[in-house]
Amino acid sequence: MKKRCSGVEIRRFLPGDIDQICDLEKRAFGIGAYSRSMIKKMFAAFGVIDFLAVEGNHILGYVCALPLDESAADIESIAIDPSMHRSGLGTLLYNRVESELLGKGYRVIVLEVRENNMQAINFYKKHGFKATEFLQNYYKVSIDGTRNAYRMKKFLDL
Ligand SMILES: CC(C)(COP(=O)(O)OP(=O)(O)OC[C@H]1O[C@@H](n2cnc3c(N)ncnc32)[C@H](O)[C@@H]1OP(=O)(O)O)[C@@H](O)C(=O)NCCC(=O)NCCS
Repeated sequence: MKKRCSGVEIRRFLPGDIDQICDLEKRAFGIGAYSRSMIKKMFAAFGVIDFLAVEGNHILGYVCALPLDESAADIESIAIDPSMHRSGLGTLLYNRVESELLGKGYRVIVLEVRENNMQAINFYKKHGFKATEFLQNYYKVSIDGTRNAYRMKKFLDL
């Protein structure tokens, strides 16, 4: 049976959310997860646009975008609890951040994704992104070196 995300509330990040976000990050990304200090820095960055998907006190997903310049923003991270993958929650968060970025005047969304992360690449393609660059050794991985990535872009329609 398809999982449902109908009882979910969308809200902004609060400092008390950090522990749950770190746990979610590890579950969603495994060894590629951002460290606690990187997550803190990301949510505190100037101009950050974030949204959390929450059910009761339980954080099920988050998205975080950062401005690159006046017209472009980067989706720094999006992660959904693995128990809720393919429930439409990623789409709910993505649509929310995209409409917020559009409302703030951004016209291009950029992101980087590991070359073998097919669930994310398919997700972004479904939301209108196209791969524009191949980035050799883009991600540094603590255990065994580096990972290649794609840069993907979407131009927002007015
Ligand atoms: C990528 C991610 C955010 C998608 O969230 P989600 O809630 O599972 O996605 P949705 O249910 O909204 O899926 C929307 C569409 O994306 C595509 N998609 C999502 N997961 C997919 C998968 N495992 N395989 C193929 N396509 C997939 C499908 O087109 C899907 O539509 P459909 O279910 O009608 O076929 C989620 O898989 C995730 O958190 N992954 C781990 C963290 C990560 O890799 N983040 C991206 C870093 S760049």
